Amino acid sequence: MERTFLMIKPDGVQRNLIGNIISRFEQKGYKLVGMKLMHISRALAEKHYAEHVGKSFFEGTVSYITSSPVVAMVWAGNNVVAGARDMLGATNPNNATPGSIRGTYGLDISRNVIHGSDSTTSAEREISLYFTPEELVDYSKNVDAWLVE
Ligand code: TYD
Ligand code: MG
Repeated sequence: MERTFLMIKPDGVQRNLIGNIISRFEQKGYKLVGMKLMHISRALAEKHYAEHVGKSFFEGTVSYITSSPVVAMVWAGNNVVAGARDMLGATNPNNATPGSIRGTYGLDISRNVIHGSDSTTSAEREISLYFTPEELVDYSKNVDAWLVE
């Protein structure tokens, strides 16, 4: 089954949005297969945002993401990479559709509440940065048969 890496950023944790955000993905039908509350090190943040090294927002993004704990998660389901990105909304909350997470909760591109992998390749790379294989839980749920034919 397809997997993605989602992370509630420091502003989402500080603003008490953990429960609301997790609830959205649960209600959609995705399955939570890994989760941890953690304080990201600078080294991990630099690996996470490696594609943005040298850009104007890189330093600010790294210091923000390491400023307070995050909730790192792996979710599984049909088309979860693209589906979760749609649920996040555009990178800039001011351009995000109102019902999306960033559109609902955000005001500023540098405080956009949540991260989500942008492709299946990024997802596998990011999952391996944050989780060991043993930390991911493989299980079935009785609702599975009601979610996908
Ligand atoms: P990016 O990978 O382009 O966005 P996304 O998170 O939607 O995949 O950028 C990574 C993060 O960097 C983004 O979530 C917020 C921050 N950022 C800025 O602060 N300013 C910017 O102009 C951009 C493009 C990103
Ligand atoms: Mg990105």
